[in-house]
Amino acid sequence: MLKAIALFAFNVLIVSSTTSAASASPLTNNSSLSGKILWSTCPPGSPLGLDCGTIDVPLAYKQSGSLEPDTNQTVTLGLVRHRTNSTMNKLGSLFFNPGGPGVSATRTVISLVASDTFGLSQALKEAYDIIGLDPRGVGSSTPVQCDPEIYNERVTTMVNNTADFNILIDHNRHLGASCANLTGPLLDHLDTIHVVKDHELVRQALGDDKFNLIGESYGSQLGSQYAALFPQNVGRMTLDGNLDHSQSEASSLHAESSTYETVLNQFLSWCDRDSTCALHNQNASHALDELLARADAAPLLAPGCGDVGGNACQPNVTGEDLRYNIQGHGFLSIVSATYGSNWYDLAQALAEAADGNATLLSTSIETSNISPSNSYASLAIGCQDWLHESTCAADIQSKTQMASTFAPRTRGASQSFGYQVRCIGWPAPLTNPQAYLNERVGEAPPVLLVNSIYDPETSIVWAEGLREQMPSAVSITRNGAGHTSYLLRGETSKAMDDFLVQGILPSDGSVYQS
Ligand SMILES: *[C@@H]1O[C@H](CO)[C@@H](O)[C@H](O)[C@H]1NC(C)=O
Ligand SMILES: *[C@@H]1O[C@H](CO)[C@@H](O)[C@H](O)[C@H]1NC(C)=O
Ligand SMILES: *[C@@H]1O[C@H](CO)[C@@H](O)[C@H](O)[C@H]1NC(C)=O
Ligand SMILES: *[C@@H]1O[C@H](CO)[C@@H](O)[C@H](O)[C@H]1NC(C)=O
Ligand SMILES: *[C@@H]1O[C@H](CO)[C@@H](O)[C@H](O)[C@H]1NC(C)=O
Ligand SMILES: *[C@@H]1O[C@H](CO)[C@@H](O)[C@H](O)[C@H]1NC(C)=O
Ligand SMILES: *[C@@H]1O[C@H](CO)[C@@H](O)[C@H](O)[C@H]1NC(C)=O
Ligand SMILES: *[C@@H]1O[C@H](CO)[C@@H](O)[C@H](O)[C@H]1NC(C)=O
Ligand SMILES: *[C@@H]1O[C@H](CO)[C@@H](O)[C@H](O)[C@H]1NC(C)=O
Repeated sequence: MLKAIALFAFNVLIVSSTTSAASASPLTNNSSLSGKILWSTCPPGSPLGLDCGTIDVPLAYKQSGSLEPDTNQTVTLGLVRHRTNSTMNKLGSLFFNPGGPGVSATRTVISLVASDTFGLSQALKEAYDIIGLDPRGVGSSTPVQCDPEIYNERVTTMVNNTADFNILIDHNRHLGASCANLTGPLLDHLDTIHVVKDHELVRQALGDDKFNLIGESYGSQLGSQYAALFPQNVGRMTLDGNLDHSQSEASSLHAESSTYETVLNQFLSWCDRDSTCALHNQNASHALDELLARADAAPLLAPGCGDVGGNACQPNVTGEDLRYNIQGHGFLSIVSATYGSNWYDLAQALAEAADGNATLLSTSIETSNISPSNSYASLAIGCQDWLHESTCAADIQSKTQMASTFAPRTRGASQSFGYQVRCIGWPAPLTNPQAYLNERVGEAPPVLLVNSIYDPETSIVWAEGLREQMPSAVSITRNGAGHTSYLLRGETSKAMDDFLVQGILPSDGSVYQS
C-alpha cells in the first residue's frame, strides 16, 4: 500500500530530530485531570529553555462552537514550550503547527528552536514563548495505532476495474478495523474541529489572551477553522502554504495534481539547463518518461530497503509509487536557500533508479502499531476531514482521466487523491468535510496568508480560494518554488516576522523574491 503521504507538511525538513517530548499516553477516564497543563522536566539533551508538558482534554466535544465535553473520557496531549529569554516585550505564546496532518509539533519545535541559522528567527524567539502542541493522535499525544502488516499491503489506488476497486475497499476496511481495534474511540474524534478546540483549551490553560499561530501547510487549516470558530480570540496568525477546505474532490485534485506536475516540469527544464543535475545532457523529460514506463511494465528494484538501519521501505517500486513519491518524499518540496539542492537530490534519486536502484523513491513501510512518522494519524485525520465519495471503479477512473489531462506524467497521484481513494470504506465518520468557512471568520483581525507561486503541495489556487473566504486577510506571495516559505528566512519570512513581532502588516498582494 502507498504510504500515508504527509504532503501538506514539510516533515522532510525536520526528521533529523529524534527527541520526543514524552512517550505516547493512553486514553484515560479521569475527567478531573482535564484542562490543566502538567509541566515536567524534558528528556536529557533537550534544548535550553524548554518545558515539556501534558494536558488532558475531552475525547469528544459537543457540536458547533462548544468546548463542553460530550463524554467523561479524555485524551492526553503532549506539548513543549520554548521560553523567551526576554522579559521585555513578551507577546505571549505563539503556537507553531507544522502540518501533515500528522507531523509532530513537539518534535518540530524542538528541532527548530535548537538552530540559530534555520527555522525560527531570534526576534520571534525573544518575542514569544514558542509552543509545539501535538495534535490528538500524533507524536507524544494519545496515538492512533494500526496494524502495520495490513498498512504495508500493496494495493493499487489507480483503480480502473471492479476487481481492483474491491481489493482497495477491502484493504481500506481491514486497515480501518485494525486502527479502530487498537486505537479505540479516539479514531472517531480526530477531525480538525476537535484539534481546533484542543488548541483553544491549551490557549486558556496557558493563560494567554489571544491565540497566536504560525500554521504551516495543513496548519493553515487549523488556523482558518480556528478563526471561523473563535474569531474574537485570534491574535497574530500567519498561515503559510494554504489549504482551501471548501472544494469538491475534483477541484482539489485538479488544483493539486496540475500544480505538482507544473513544478515537476520546471524541475525537468532545470535539469536540461544546469549541469549539476544528474539527468543533464540526456533530455530529462525523456529520461523520466522512460523510467515511468519501465516501472509501469515491471517494478524497479529497491535493494537498499529493509528493516535494518531504519530504512524500512518496500523492496520494489511501481510507476504508481514513483508518481506519488516524487511528490510525497518531499523532493520537490523542501525549501532551502538554493532550490537546486533539493532538485539535485531528486535528479540523483531518479538517476540511481534508472541505474537499477530505486531505493530513494521506494514507499516507506511501518514496523509497529505506533508509527514514528505518524502515517496512521495522517490517514485517520484525513479520512475525517476530506470527502471520499467514489462508489465504483468508474468513479475513480474518471478522476484519474481528468487529472491525466493536466498532469499526464503523474496522472493525479497526490495527497488529495490519496485521501479520496484510501478513505473509501474507512470506519470513522466524515465529520469535517469540505465547506466554506463560517462567515464569522470575517470578524477576526487580519490574518496573514502566505504562499509560494510554485508550491507542489499546497497550490496557489488554494491560497486564492482561502483568501476569498477570509475577507479580513492580507495575502503575500513568494515568487519561487517549494512548499511553504517561513523557514527560508528570506524576505517573505521577514514580512511574517514583522507582522508577528511588531504587528506591521505588509501591503496586500506583495510579492517577494525570496
Ligand atoms: C473508560 O470508560 C469507558 C466507558 O465509559 C470504558 O469502556 C473504558 O474501558 C474505560 N477506559 C479506561 C482506560 O479505563
Ligand atoms: C483523577 O486524578 C486526580 C488528580 O491526579 C486524582 O486526585 C484522582 O484521584 C483521580 N481520580 C480517579 C478516579 O482516578
Ligand atoms: C461520567 O462521570 C459521572 C460522574 O463521575 C458518572 O456518574 C457517569 O456514569 C460517567 N459517565 C460515563 C459515560 O462514564
Ligand atoms: C536571548 O538569547 C539569544 C541567543 O542565545 C541572545 O542572542 C539574546 O541576546 C538573548 N536575549 C536576551 C534579552 O537575553
Ligand atoms: C488500468 O490502468 C493501467 C495504468 O493506466 C493500465 O496499465 C491498465 O491496462 C488499465 N487496466 C484496465 C483494465 O483498464
Ligand atoms: C478487530 O477486533 C475484532 C474483535 O476483537 C476481531 O474480530 C477482528 O478480527 C479485529 N480486526 C482487525 C482487523 O484487527
Ligand atoms: C525530450 O523528450 C521529450 C519527451 O520524450 C520530447 O517530447 C522532446 O521532444 C525531447 N526534446 C528534445 C530536445 O529532444
Ligand atoms: C541503493 O541505493 C541506496 C540509497 O542511495 C544505497 O544506500 C544502497 O547502498 C544502494 N544499494 C545497492 C545495492 O546499490
Ligand atoms: C514487489 O514486492 C512485493 C512485496 O512488497 C512482493 O510481494 C512482490 O512479489 C514484488 N514484486 C516483484 C515484481 O518483485
